Amino acid sequence: MGYPDTIAAEEVKSRLETSWVGNQVKYFEEITSTNQYAKKIAEEGAPEGMLIIADEQTRGKGRSGRAWTTPRGTAVAMTLVLRPKLPPAKVSMVTLVMGLAVAKACRVLYGIPAGIKWPNDVVVNGKKLCGILTEMSMEMAAVNYVVIGTGINVNVSSFPQEISKTATSLLLECGYETARAKLIAVCMKYFEEYYERFLRTQDLSALMEEYNELLLNRERKVRVLEPGHEYTGTAMGINRDGELLVVREDGSQTAVYAGEVSVRGVYGYV
Ligand code: BTN
Repeated sequence: MGYPDTIAAEEVKSRLETSWVGNQVKYFEEITSTNQYAKKIAEEGAPEGMLIIADEQTRGKGRSGRAWTTPRGTAVAMTLVLRPKLPPAKVSMVTLVMGLAVAKACRVLYGIPAGIKWPNDVVVNGKKLCGILTEMSMEMAAVNYVVIGTGINVNVSSFPQEISKTATSLLLECGYETARAKLIAVCMKYFEEYYERFLRTQDLSALMEEYNELLLNRERKVRVLEPGHEYTGTAMGINRDGELLVVREDGSQTAVYAGEVSVRGVYGYV
């Protein structure tokens, strides 16, 4: 690996093997949040495929209003701008597509057993390696743009105590430092490939099998937390719409939509 481990635009561009994802790459040494910036430039007309990368985020955003920490020089914080011609209800599936792409990239590049905690956390040995936050803007009930933000813990050597039981990094899992530019490029390669397959059918029918193979919740007991009520059941896998099929204790089957819900393992994080 070259030192320092740079992820400046040219460094990433020279490794990209995509046809349109990353057609423009914009790099920041420091930014509040790549998602926030991507939304701003998408409003101003940024093209589909534009990729925003930052070496450090000062106000990174996680799901459900939580904060996401991107320490300088050791993580990946990137956001991709998309303009899909999809009904808004189908946009949440794009997040599953990115989760699959990141898990696949980590398996291929480093040989680690990266899996997916539905809908889109990438998890290794029971701990979270990567989080994804998708945000959408609509105009007249149609999708105007989608920004898909991915945060990967790469060369992070330790985590604050509050999250040390549930967070991990590539360094901790592999035992060596890895080059972030290569990781970004390979994630984008798989994302482009999977996303195009998704667009052809406008559902996950062509990706379901691969996704379910990496789905760590599969055949495990989960607790589904929906606004206002919660229940437990056994997760069976996703359907073509990306919903998690959960068989409840009374034998009934529910398809859980990846919106306002969160799914936890009954015996731990997964
Ligand atoms: C989660 O809570 O699991 C989602 C975390 C998403 C973090 C990424 S880092 C790049 C992009 N910019 C942000 O502010 N958030 C996302």
